[in-house]
Amino acid sequence: MADVEALKKEAGIEACKFVRSGMKVGLGTGSTVKHTVIELGRLISEEGMEIVGVPTSLSTEKLAISVGIPLVELSDIDGLDIVIDGADEYNPDFQLIKGGGAALLREKIVAQESSKMIIVADERKRVNTLGAFPLPIEVTPFSHAATVRALSRLLDCRVNIRMAGDGPVFTDNGNMIADAHTGPNISNPEECESKILQIAGVVQVGLFNNMCDAVVLAGQNGVETILNPNGRLID
Ligand code: A5P
Repeated sequence: MADVEALKKEAGIEACKFVRSGMKVGLGTGSTVKHTVIELGRLISEEGMEIVGVPTSLSTEKLAISVGIPLVELSDIDGLDIVIDGADEYNPDFQLIKGGGAALLREKIVAQESSKMIIVADERKRVNTLGAFPLPIEVTPFSHAATVRALSRLLDCRVNIRMAGDGPVFTDNGNMIADAHTGPNISNPEECESKILQIAGVVQVGLFNNMCDAVVLAGQNGVETILNPNGRLID
């Protein structure tokens, strides 16, 4: 496979073709979409593009500021024209697993407020059935062990609190991430999402269903844009 970093960069930059001057743009999180953010900064400074951005994490906020993208609060505007973000997996129905970078809650809020969602990815992210990538679930620190047990019973699999060294990972929202090792068998992501959200200690789950309109996919043969036939980019 070609150098993965090069593929990520190609996809990240290509996705900027969906952004026009005047748009309000959701800025995703991760090592692929970071190239989108950097390119948008270049388009602003070198080509006079005028956009405002809403970042999906503190790390993206920092990057966006450093490349000169003006930022606004989602609460202060009426929706976004587009969000560009990465994904950990996507299936043939354009359903996604996200949250490998622990930013899933803000990513989902921003995606929900966006008129269109573009995913940037390299070809390793394409799967037939979701779940080989452990499913990230944001949980409250309060009673997190009980929530993990409830998730493990529900999904019938191992569920671990994500760690960084000796301590748990805390999200930008002060919560923890439980990773559910379901294996590649999430055949009904909508039902799975809905069941997980019924557990009180769950804040959000990294299943993004019926949100993605297109995937900008970088592979060995170049970058292709795959439109969701049921998405909002189809007339
Ligand atoms: C962040 O929480 C995630 O949803 C990322 O968007 C996802 O993990 C993709 O990241 P990479 O582009 O770094 O693989």
